[in-house]
Amino acid sequence: MDKKVTVIGAGNVGATVAQRLAEKELADVVLFDRTEGLPQGKALDLKEAASVEKHDARLIGANAYEASEGSDVVILAAGVPRKPGMSRGDLLATNAKIVKDIIERVAPLSPDAILIIVTNPLDVMCHVAFQASKFPRNRVVGMSGVLDAGRFCTFIAMELNVSVKNTHALVLGGHGKTMVPLPRYSTVAGVPITELLPQERVDALVKRTREGGAEIIGLLKTSSAYYAPASAVVEMADSILKDKKKILPCAAYLQGEYGIHDLFIGVPVKLGKDGVEEIIEVTLTQEEDAALKKSADAVRSLVKNLDKIGS
Ligand code: LAC
Repeated sequence: MDKKVTVIGAGNVGATVAQRLAEKELADVVLFDRTEGLPQGKALDLKEAASVEKHDARLIGANAYEASEGSDVVILAAGVPRKPGMSRGDLLATNAKIVKDIIERVAPLSPDAILIIVTNPLDVMCHVAFQASKFPRNRVVGMSGVLDAGRFCTFIAMELNVSVKNTHALVLGGHGKTMVPLPRYSTVAGVPITELLPQERVDALVKRTREGGAEIIGLLKTSSAYYAPASAVVEMADSILKDKKKILPCAAYLQGEYGIHDLFIGVPVKLGKDGVEEIIEVTLTQEEDAALKKSADAVRSLVKNLDKIGS
């Protein structure tokens, strides 16, 4: 492959991302983890599937950061996941340290890479990675809205008994309880769901979307979600690696867009070879705008906590 992607963290999310990247032949993949043998074992296992899956992507596992050198995209899926009853914010101190340490090692080895952050609490970890990498804002982006909108689409398709391929959804805001699913911009074959469903059903789907991550943790108990998060990451990587310029909801660093300053939060962006090539500003009603600002306040207070714990 002519592209190289390093996936940091060989847990459930990282390994599933590596699998999908390789099977779609998007890039050669380095799977990195600090645990000896883990990334090597998973990479070798995936490599041994290649003759059946019929792909030619190269896969290696590594415990040394040097293996990531010259990556086009670095995906950060390291850190501890939530357990039942935990909020994403509960992971703040532990994961901030992990993300900072890793990015300080990885960024100088791939100075032109685009960083896709997956570690929670997502929007705050983007902030940590942005500061630690010293990359321009277009090259640090967080995976949140593609997952949340994907969940919303799933619930819309289930509710209306239509193909999920006919659905499209938009979710803004922080990747947490204050996220802002936008029913007016969520459609089935181009028709907003507000015209297809009574308000109370729309509200129920919005609530289930907001709690989508917790619903999976409640079922799995020992892990958070990983198939859908990995799909979301790979859609973003695909748009970057192939310069597709897809408009996708992602955590991006705002400098005045949506009236929000110096904060990572979920908004629609154009993703291409330069990362976040444009931040798309959709018009919001007063109520939607207030919900986005409330979500931004929640993220900002976590960023402030970060300053307090010295990360
Ligand atoms: C979720 C985690 C990955 O939403 O944040 O499932």
